[in-house]
Amino acid sequence: MADRRPGRLAGPGEILLLNGPNLGQLGTRRPEMYGTTTLAEIEEDVAKAAAEAGYTVRCLQDESEAALVRAVHEAQDCVGAIVNPGALMIAGWSLRDALETFPGPWMEVHLSNVFAREPFRHNSVISPLASGVLCGLGAYGYRLAALALVHRLTLDAACGTGPGAA
Ligand code: DQA
Repeated sequence: MADRRPGRLAGPGEILLLNGPNLGQLGTRRPEMYGTTTLAEIEEDVAKAAAEAGYTVRCLQDESEAALVRAVHEAQDCVGAIVNPGALMIAGWSLRDALETFPGPWMEVHLSNVFAREPFRHNSVISPLASGVLCGLGAYGYRLAALALVHRLTLDAACGTGPGAA
């Protein structure tokens, strides 16, 4: 009988988990806003969720937009991505242009509900390019983003859509 668990049709591949400025401080940074889960715990959780579907995860957090842009360039072999741009959501045009060339689907994540915060956080320059956007769900949002990405990759593989499709 066919194994129809999410990701099984798509086969293994690597997912890029990218976190922008200040997100390495999760756990101690404004816990009332971002919770107490550390980035290391989030990365472990995403890796676990991805592994259940046969995927591996490449994690990178950096304070500089240049490093994030480089990471996207170097991840053209990844099948998908999960991106929390931090404040680069507001004016990270270089990151936006790099993500525009990323071949696979990717999800944008924000721990906080950016729409319930200051007006300058209400518009993300990367959202129009994302396959999906999750915000306000705390650290759990990353796990949901991983599940949504695996689901999307599975659909793409089953339907013959997505990068490389004729
Ligand atoms: C954030 C929201 C951004 O506006 C903020 O600059 C961050 C964190 C979030 O995960 O809620 O650094 O991306």
